[in-house]
Amino acid sequence: MEADRPDPVCSTVDCAAGRSSSRGAVRILSAGVRLTVLPGESIVDAVRRHGYRTRYSCRRGGCGVCKADLVEGHVHYRLPIAESVLSEADRDGGKCLPCRAEPVGDVVIRLSGRDQLRHILGTVHPASDATG
Ligand code: FES
Repeated sequence: MEADRPDPVCSTVDCAAGRSSSRGAVRILSAGVRLTVLPGESIVDAVRRHGYRTRYSCRRGGCGVCKADLVEGHVHYRLPIAESVLSEADRDGGKCLPCRAEPVGDVVIRLSGRDQLRHILGTVHPASDATG
């Protein structure tokens, strides 16, 4: 099953709002699924756009429910997150908040032990590679 859909083109409004011009991809461990991420899109928003769900709650960087390991790559936080939820030490220790984290290029994250990637439109194939 193809989990990726054609990506919409970055609109003038999105680009004018200061979104980055590069797009990346996120590989989600341990599901082994790789998804494209649009400029200015958070990892959770990309996951949702591809028809998947992970564990999250506030989607505003305020609760920590989505916290995951950033295994490879870099992310940036265009929108604010709570320091009490993701401290500088957490970031240095390889943690990220996928609800606000926007990949800079390609990244790999590992969901927490309580989380799993679920495809709401079909079956998850753990070894699938949905690229865009
Ligand atoms: S869902 Fe609340 S911090 Fe990410």
